Parts: sequence; structure tokens; C-alpha cells
Amino acid sequence: MNDTPSEPPPATPWWASEDAWRKIAIWVTAVMFVVLIGLTFDSIPKITAGSARVPAYEVINQRIYYRFSQERKLPVPVIGDAAPLFGTALSAADAQALVSHGKLTFQAKNCMNCHTILGNGAYFAPDLTKSWLDPAWAGESAREGLMERFLLDPTTNARGYGTTRRMPNLGLTIDEARAVIAFLKWTSAIDTNGFPRNFTPIVQEGDR
Ligand code: HEC
Repeated sequence: MNDTPSEPPPATPWWASEDAWRKIAIWVTAVMFVVLIGLTFDSIPKITAGSARVPAYEVINQRIYYRFSQERKLPVPVIGDAAPLFGTALSAADAQALVSHGKLTFQAKNCMNCHTILGNGAYFAPDLTKSWLDPAWAGESAREGLMERFLLDPTTNARGYGTTRRMPNLGLTIDEARAVIAFLKWTSAIDTNGFPRNFTPIVQEGDR
């Protein structure tokens, strides 16, 4: 016979109680929400066109090249002499409108379905963040014409880079193609901290 009274169940330690976990979850969510808002406000000025790393849209009127920074140990963009896109220097408002048209075309045609840009997109086709500087465009002076020709008819003008991958003809108009080129010229001038890693810029005709 065992008639000793049974021990009361041990009290649940505070860290194992449901109530403590509920409170922790609520507090962590609330604190992280505030952190997220803070980081958002901290990022906005850094990603706005016209800030230290993201140039204003008029940069499409200038030459863009890269110079290796010993201090940062990566290539950094340099905004050079006047080099208007398609031979026409644009006002700030016109440059913004053109880059914006290019970005909208990029989204409407879903280029990111195959390409990556600024860290977003697919890896079927080359990263386009610095495609303005791709050595495949022969040289700085031939580049915009070759890019336009390629975008208007990527099947006939396919390069392929030794793969069988081909870009389909997306039916861009000449205005859309030029706007996309402006958008890509602008992204090439963004200081992306050396990303995509080890990209090789087009043969550069010196610093100027
Ligand atoms: C179905 C997949 C696919 C889609 C969608 C696509 N591309 Fe491509 N693109 C490719 C492939 C594959 C290549 C590489 C083959 C080549 O250059 O011939 C390429 C190459 C390019 C290049 C040359 C890249 C370089 O650095 O030399 C540019 C610029 C380009 N595409 C722009 C665009 C734009 C702008 C769009 C949207 C309007 C787009 N692509 C949509 C598959 C695609």
C-alpha cells in the first residue's frame, strides 16, 4: 500500500510558460517592426537617384567608366566627359522620363524572367546591371548602335557566349529599345559595391 500523498506537480519555470512565449513573440514583432521602419527611412536617401552611390538620371549624358579603387579593393564607377546617348544631351526631366520609360519597358516585357538586374531576377541569361559596359559591345563608340540592333532583333544578332541560349524577339519598338538602353546606361553608373563580382568593363579609352 502506498498512502503517501503524491507530490504536487513542479511549477512550470517562467521560460517554459505559454504566457511568457506569447509576450516574447509580441515584443520581438513590435521591436522588429520599429527597426524595419527605421531601416526603411535610413535606406531611402541612399537609393534615391542623385545620391552618393546612385547618380541622377542626367548621368546618361556622360561617359561612364570604372577605375579600380585601392582603398575599397573593387572597381568604382567614374562619371566622365560629356557623351550624350544617341548624340542628344537631355535635360534632367527628359533624362528621367527616358530612363523611366526604359524601366517600365523592362518590367512590361518581363526581362527579369531570364535576366538579373541589381540583384533581382533569373540566371538564365547574363546579368544586365553592367551590360552597358559589356566588352561584347566591341568598343565605346559602336556600343549604342550595336545594343539597339541587338534589342530590336536579338535572334539574328545573337552572340550566345558559347551557349545555345538565345534571346527571343520581344517586339520592342525603336523608342522602347532606346529607353531600355538609357535605363541600362544609368544602372551601369550605380555604385553597386563591385557587384556583379568580377565584371569586366568594355575596353576603356583612358580616363577622361
Ligand atoms: C527568354 C529569355 C530572355 C528574355 C525574356 C530576355 N532576354 Fe535578354 N538575353 C537572353 C539571352 C539568352 C541572352 C544572351 C544571348 C545573346 O547575347 O545572344 C540575352 C542577352 C541580352 C543582352 C546582352 C547582354 C550583355 O551583357 O551583353 C541584353 C542587353 C538583353 N538581353 C536585354 C534584354 C531586355 C532589355 C529584355 C526585356 C525587354 C530581355 N533581354 C529579355 C535571354 C532573354
